[in-house]
Amino acid sequence: MPLMTTKPMFDLAYDGGFAVGAFNVNNMEITQGIISACAAEKSPLILQISKGARKYANMRFLRHIIAAAVEEHPELPIAIHLDHGDTMDLVKACLNDGFTSVMIDGSHEPYEENVKLTAEVVKTAHPAGVVVEAELGILGGIEEHVVGVKAEEVEKFLTDPEEARDFWRRTKVDSLAIAIGTSHGAYKFKHEAKLAMDRIEQIMKTCPGLPLVMHGSSSVPQEFIDLINKYGGSMPNAKGVPEEQIYAAVTQYGVCKVNIDTDLRLALTAKIREVFATKPSEFDPRNYLGPGREAIVTMVRRKLQALNSVGKAEAVVKQWQKLGEPMPAYYKK
Ligand code: G3H
Ligand code: 13P
Ligand code: ZN
Repeated sequence: MPLMTTKPMFDLAYDGGFAVGAFNVNNMEITQGIISACAAEKSPLILQISKGARKYANMRFLRHIIAAAVEEHPELPIAIHLDHGDTMDLVKACLNDGFTSVMIDGSHEPYEENVKLTAEVVKTAHPAGVVVEAELGILGGIEEHVVGVKAEEVEKFLTDPEEARDFWRRTKVDSLAIAIGTSHGAYKFKHEAKLAMDRIEQIMKTCPGLPLVMHGSSSVPQEFIDLINKYGGSMPNAKGVPEEQIYAAVTQYGVCKVNIDTDLRLALTAKIREVFATKPSEFDPRNYLGPGREAIVTMVRRKLQALNSVGKAEAVVKQWQKLGEPMPAYYKK
């Protein structure tokens, strides 16, 4: 059962020029679509759960859906990760719920507060065998707690390389989410879609060996936007991160984890809209959720190519065996 932390994954990804896809899960169909795609491409994966997902789906249900995915694909290296954790209480709840990795997002706090909170979480999570991701800098666009960072102001919110080094040294965090021009959601760029590649490179050079994480990395495929707009939706000017730029970041600059949520939502929504519009008498959820799930499989398989993680599952499992990582306490019960 290669349920693991992200350490064996990032060990290989950092030097191997690939990144592990971190996909947000909210229900069974989304989880099945992701896992089928990763099985087909033999890719390691991170299933991540936001605070909102815990609330929506109820952790007990999510846990069993994920357990089923792990049982179905014992050959796949899988990490279960808390996305954008905001309090120590939530982190502790996740440690008790079998997560192998947690994010503490103190990026909206003053720097010293972020350091303090992150260091405390690291001190709590590590003894439980769980790794920690933190965030430094402010993602452009609209983020939780951060509304309306204008395009021309984005530069000053990018992660500062020297600060990243200080943060890493003081918190002992295992990976760091950086602000390099991405943002959450379907409207990432008003003008040219462009990441601050030079900034990623500087951070990698200032913090050699630190696995970097890219949030807000959906590509917002035009085919889904076209379907949504054709079948009654309204998503004008939606724009994501071009896959070539993701490929460049993961193959050259120490980006080991790439977060995808919006593209999953778009794939599912586009197909459901299409079925509703073209088959107005359809009322069996399996006949619209099914095509939605298929669209997720196709989209994720393509994404894994952009992450260069195709075929990397076996090597990650070997690395996990080599490290002899103990499972988090939850799994020893
Ligand atoms: O980073 C945010 C993710 O897309 C999760 O979104 O809080 O609506 O579940 P959510
Ligand atoms: P997207 O909105 O680009 O999919 O980003 C998701 C994310 O960063 C989750 O933490
Ligand atoms: Zn995020």
